[in-house]
Amino acid sequence: MAVKIGFIGAGGNANWHMDMIEDVPDAQIVAVADLALDRAQATADKHNAKAYASHKTMLADEDLDCCYISIPPHQHGEPEIDVIQKGLPFFVEKPLALRQDLMDDILERIEKHNIGTCVGYQIRYLDIMDQAKEMLKNTFINAVQGHYVCGAIGGWYTRLALSGGQITEQATHMLDLMRYVLGDVEWIAASKRQGAVVTADSLDATALGAGSESTETAGLQLHDYNIWDATTLLMRFRSGVPATFMCSCQVNYMFEVLFDIFTTDFRLKIDYDKMTVIRKIDGETQSETIQADTSPKIDATFIEAVKTGDFSKVRSSYRDAIESLRVSLATLEAVQTGTIVKL
Ligand SMILES: NC(=O)c1ccc[n+]([C@@H]2O[C@H](COP(=O)([O-])OP(=O)(O)OC[C@H]3O[C@@H](n4cnc5c(N)ncnc54)[C@H](O)[C@@H]3O)[C@@H](O)[C@H]2O)c1
Repeated sequence: MAVKIGFIGAGGNANWHMDMIEDVPDAQIVAVADLALDRAQATADKHNAKAYASHKTMLADEDLDCCYISIPPHQHGEPEIDVIQKGLPFFVEKPLALRQDLMDDILERIEKHNIGTCVGYQIRYLDIMDQAKEMLKNTFINAVQGHYVCGAIGGWYTRLALSGGQITEQATHMLDLMRYVLGDVEWIAASKRQGAVVTADSLDATALGAGSESTETAGLQLHDYNIWDATTLLMRFRSGVPATFMCSCQVNYMFEVLFDIFTTDFRLKIDYDKMTVIRKIDGETQSETIQADTSPKIDATFIEAVKTGDFSKVRSSYRDAIESLRVSLATLEAVQTGTIVKL
């Protein structure tokens, strides 16, 4: 029997997951809900599914086995609560939400109703992360550094209150990865940069219309840029490992993520789809680069979990993902208060 899936949100990311699901055996996208009905319709047509303008109608009319929730960060809350009320397992995109109390409320409901969840931190599923974790088991980690740099996209992303800014919306992937490999964070100090001149031309214009609930509200005024150009973090993990991290969305000329781990025996430079191991062999410093298997795994893992009821292979549950979001929220607090924030 195919796993019947309903989507809440039919934007760029949801469409990517739907394309991946087409290759997962025994999975069927049966319904797509988006506040922009035309977007829901176009996506539903592509996958022979039914379109809805509201997730509430979709949940009332369809007999689903699970849901995907892929909506802008500021829209979280009601969709999750309604899906949980229906007793359905769900996949939800990062960032989970922009407020701790909302995430805590959703988690309480998830655990009360024993709902299986999977959060879209897909970098965790790369085989090089397994190798990195294995290698780090028997060494001493001195310190780590990381960064996430790229250009700014338009749409809801440009407003701090809607996206949480780059540290919450994009760099959360790296903060989550650091937690996955190094464990939880103990404290954070942070600073920010603002003042870059941003115009419609310096944003990714194709994204200006995307993500709005209607084309009428897709003008530049709505997307008036007020997120931070750069954020820097100094932090300490509970294991004692110190770390620095920087993200900037005013680096229009490139996209680069880096997670750089210095141990007493070797250095691991993880750059999303490859890992370089640098160490001394026979007195000479040598480096070996390992390419990751980037074939998508997260959707197949989630759908298998829904089918079997066994969520043990899911690498990021709602409960765990809250801890990654707490790092971003603590960063915002550290910048705004100028203090060290303990987690
Ligand atoms: N895991 C990843 O690597 C990855 C990659 C890209 C995006 N994302 C995440 O996916 C989410 C969506 O991003 P996107 O790029 O697809 O955004 P988008 O703006 O392209 O699409 C969002 C869609 O959600 C719809 N929507 C908003 N509120 C809704 C609601 N209450 N009910 C139904 N539909 C609603 C909007 O109309 C829009 O069509 C974000 O949280 C983003 O961070 C994750």
